[in-house]
Amino acid sequence: MNKQLFNFVDYLESKKTVDDRALNRVVLNKMCDYLHEMARQKPLQIVEIASGIGTMLERLIDWDLLPSATYTMVDVNEKYILCAKEHIQAWAKQQNIKFIEFDDKFFLQKDDKKFEINFCIADATSFFSKTHEKYDLVIAHAFLDLVNSEELLPLLFGAIQKKGAFYFSINFDGETIFLPQINADLDQKIIYDYHRVMDEQKVGDKTVSGTKVGRNLFAYIHNAGGKIIEAGSSDWTVFPRENRYPHRENYFLHCIIDTVSQTLTDQINYNINSWITSRHDQIEDAELVYIAHQLDFFGII
Ligand SMILES: C[S@@+](CC[C@H](N)C(=O)[O-])C[C@H]1O[C@@H](n2cnc3c(N)ncnc32)[C@H](O)[C@@H]1O
Repeated sequence: MNKQLFNFVDYLESKKTVDDRALNRVVLNKMCDYLHEMARQKPLQIVEIASGIGTMLERLIDWDLLPSATYTMVDVNEKYILCAKEHIQAWAKQQNIKFIEFDDKFFLQKDDKKFEINFCIADATSFFSKTHEKYDLVIAHAFLDLVNSEELLPLLFGAIQKKGAFYFSINFDGETIFLPQINADLDQKIIYDYHRVMDEQKVGDKTVSGTKVGRNLFAYIHNAGGKIIEAGSSDWTVFPRENRYPHRENYFLHCIIDTVSQTLTDQINYNINSWITSRHDQIEDAELVYIAHQLDFFGII
C-alpha cells in the first residue's frame, strides 16, 4: 500500500456523513428488524470487523437501530482501536449517553438500552480462526475490498450462530466518477489505471477482492453458505450545496484525490500531476462531484 499523504483518522471522520447518506435504507431496515426479532429471545452478541474509529457503532446507536447488545470492535490497527475509544467516550458525553469504563470495556446506556463495548486488536483472518464465540451479527463496513473476502467469508460465517446474520455495507463495485470532465480520454485512462492498480494489491501472498467486490459478493456469500436477504446500492455521492460541501466532505474529497495520486505513483508511464492539481482546485472551488458505486448486503446463515 502506498504511503498516504492525508491523516487516515481524519479521513474516516470525514467519511461518516458521506456513508450516512449512502447506506441503503432498505437493507439497513431489514437488518434492524431481524436484530430486534432476535433480541426478543436473548441478549445479542455483535462483532464489527475492521471497525476503524467506531463510526458505525455511533451511527447505529444514534439512529436507534440497535437493541441492547454486546458489541465487539475488531481492527488490525492498534491506533484506530485507541482512537475509537477516545471517539466513543467523547461522543457518549456529547449525546448524553451514560458511560462507564471498567476492565477495558465500555458500558453505555441510552434510554432503556444497554451496550457493552469490547475492543480487540486483531487481523480478521486470525480473529475468526481463533474465536470460540458464535455471534448473532457480524458487521463489515467499507472493508471487504481490502482483503481476500472469498477466503475470509467461510471463516467469518463459521463465527456466526445458526440463523445469525451478517451486514456487509459500502462494498465498492467498480465505478468511480469525477465531474466535471477535465479531458475525456485522460479521465478514463486514470480511472482505469486506478482500478487496475487497486486490483493488483496483495495482502501477504493473497490478492485482494478489490474493485468488483460488490458484485462478486453475490457469489462469495452463496459459496460460503450464506443466504442474502436484501441487497442494494449504497453509492457515495458527494457534491457542493450553495458553493460548499457539507460537514468536512471537502477534506474527504481531497483524501480521495490523494489516494488516486498515491495509488498511481510509479504505476503508470504518463504524468498526472496537472490532472491531480486540477481536481484539488475543483474541490477548493466547490465544483467537484464524486460518485463511487457500492453495494450493501444483509443476510443470514
Ligand atoms: C477503509 S477503513 C474502514 C474503517 C471503518 N469500517 C469505517 O468505515 O469507518 C478499513 C479498516 O480496515 C482495517 N483493516 C485492514 N485490514 C484488516 C485486517 N486484515 N483485519 C482487520 N482489520 C483490518 C484498517 O485498519 C481500517 O480501520
